[in-house]
Amino acid sequence: MKSAVTTLRRAALATLLSLEILVAKADEGMWIPLRIGQNLPQMQADGCQLSAADIYADSASLKDAVVIFGGGCTGCLVSANGLIFTNHHCGLGQIQSLSTPERDLLRDGFWAKSHAEELPCPGLTVRRLVRMADVSDSIAQGFGKADIEANASESGRYEAVVRAVYGGNQHFVHVYETFTDVRLVGAPPQEIGKFGGDTDNWTWPRHTGDFAIFRLYADEQNRPANFAPTNRPYRPRRHLEISTAGLDEGDFAMVMGYPGSTKLYAPASYVELLQEQIYPKQIELRAAKLAVMNRHQAADAATQLKYAAKNATTANAWKKWIGEIRGLKKIDAVGRKREQERRWAEADTAIAATLADYAKIYTPRWAEKETSAALLTEVLRRGGMELCTAAQMLETLANQTVTRADIDNLLGRMASAFYKNYSPTLDAEMTAEVLRVVRKHVPVDLLPVALRKPQIDLKKFAQNLIEKSNLSSETRLRKMLSVKPEKAVNKLVNDPAFRLYRELHGLRFGTLPTYYIDCATATEIAAVDRRHIGAIMRLNGERLLPLDANFTLRVSHGKTAGYEANDGVWHKHFTTTNGILEKSKQPNADYRLSPKAKSLYVAENQSLYAASDGTLRTCFITTNHTSGGNSGSPVLDAHGRLVGLNFDRAWEGVMSDLVFNPEQCRNIALDIRYLLFVVDKLGEAKNIINELKINK
Ligand code: ARG
Ligand code: GLU
Repeated sequence: MKSAVTTLRRAALATLLSLEILVAKADEGMWIPLRIGQNLPQMQADGCQLSAADIYADSASLKDAVVIFGGGCTGCLVSANGLIFTNHHCGLGQIQSLSTPERDLLRDGFWAKSHAEELPCPGLTVRRLVRMADVSDSIAQGFGKADIEANASESGRYEAVVRAVYGGNQHFVHVYETFTDVRLVGAPPQEIGKFGGDTDNWTWPRHTGDFAIFRLYADEQNRPANFAPTNRPYRPRRHLEISTAGLDEGDFAMVMGYPGSTKLYAPASYVELLQEQIYPKQIELRAAKLAVMNRHQAADAATQLKYAAKNATTANAWKKWIGEIRGLKKIDAVGRKREQERRWAEADTAIAATLADYAKIYTPRWAEKETSAALLTEVLRRGGMELCTAAQMLETLANQTVTRADIDNLLGRMASAFYKNYSPTLDAEMTAEVLRVVRKHVPVDLLPVALRKPQIDLKKFAQNLIEKSNLSSETRLRKMLSVKPEKAVNKLVNDPAFRLYRELHGLRFGTLPTYYIDCATATEIAAVDRRHIGAIMRLNGERLLPLDANFTLRVSHGKTAGYEANDGVWHKHFTTTNGILEKSKQPNADYRLSPKAKSLYVAENQSLYAASDGTLRTCFITTNHTSGGNSGSPVLDAHGRLVGLNFDRAWEGVMSDLVFNPEQCRNIALDIRYLLFVVDKLGEAKNIINELKINK
């Protein structure tokens, strides 16, 4: 009797709670393409005309047209000849490295009018998903990840990766083919590709022409090959057709791409520490960094180009953290999560137990550990002190016996990978500013010895370091390393910046874990996550639960919809080129337009790509759940045709990595008609237009 009552009570509670955060809310979720059949009823109710096999099949399907672009973006194949669309901000690093002050492709844009004019992009890779499979059973039977991966790689032809979902309660293997011959085909000038810049980043309404065009090359067998003039355009199994019909309010929209990481199941205790302790200090450090970069870049055109990509990367997370805090507070995410946890704990003893574990893990002390780790990582690995970036590259020399050729090769690589974009005067100021914030928030035991005294003048310290270190100038580094290899290495390890780098490295990765020995490790937390999410899954039975992103191919589905940004403020679901001209009247450098660009937006130019109301749509928003990594993802209509390129999220909803709020979470896409317009009328690249399959 008692157990029957408990079961009933459980079921009733589960239903009650399911209306909230347990089960995916309208349009929440980044789904696994292989399992998309589970979502199809909902998708079809929203107007989708596709079958599960249209989206994912081991044979040709939409999944073959969606690729990983570089290290953290998505791209889509749009022609039978390997043409790829992605975002301008995804190609920014490449476009910048192909630029010089005399031939500035960021400023002026670039359009290849033939295959011969395309520009090789050394170091850039594109990965295509060959297939994926559920390997949860094999993992449960005790097979190791490495064995499963080796087996799936078909003797090394492919790269296979096993990734967990639902906190490690399910596993999938992903088999990739990696291409290394990727060439730049087209990019608009920055005034279009980054229109609105960091003023508009993470906000709606938006008018950014955020696209760039590349092409994949393969060998005679259509297989990946390193760059060679004899390589041929890659012939994909499937490429996307384009629709210029656009999406109307309420229309079905689907995004396919590679969202990086979300934490939808994080407990209230975690979210609270993030918003109150960790993010604010990370924001403070990035703000200090940005102030220095902005000042130096505004003062000098060469520095402007050198620091374009670094500034964009620094500003992007900085602004996102600010938006996340705001969004979390606005919906009282912590309070809501607490309330739900209280009810969960009542309904289920397993969840009560994992919540108790979390309460012990997520303490202010743990937040201090996370903050210290994050701030030291900013110095070491995120260019907070740029000489650390140089030192990290040089570290390979210090760790082995090296030859003259090793040294010369590395110096060759560093010329383009480091010195081309380095300004020692900027770095001296930035280092001082960054260390100021680090000293404020990191315990003294985790600071380099030279920085422990409170009265130290950081400006002098940083200036001195950059003057004394040979790493701060390519010429001086070359000179220092021009002697016999053993002697060169000896000089390197005694260089003051290199020594500081090593000290910081030791503090971050050696001292820090022991200093916080009382705090839970990532592995310990992962074990609790697994039990916690496992218990939530059991409580929910067959119901569909949202999955966290893990940088594997996902599908999210939703609709085209505006939203109420604030009380009484309704945001329409699209923007037009009129907004570009309006914004350009403001005295803000992010909205500056050259006369040439301005003259572009006239009716006769736009007519071919205009919507039925005569306007040229630039961007639009949909309710799809997306995250970082979804940049460059195709936005597809009910028939799977390309209507937009995802590139951002709207300000009120950027906390959707932690809590999805269907009322306000919107992803932002570039309207494909705006892309076609710019390629055609500004780039005059008929060759590109002619390659595409465009439906009215
Ligand atoms: N916010 C978008 C994303 O996360 C666009 C970033 C472009 N960078 C920038 N600083 N505007 O990637
Ligand atoms: N701009 C992001 C990216 O680079 C996508 C926007 C988001 O985070 O939703 O992936």
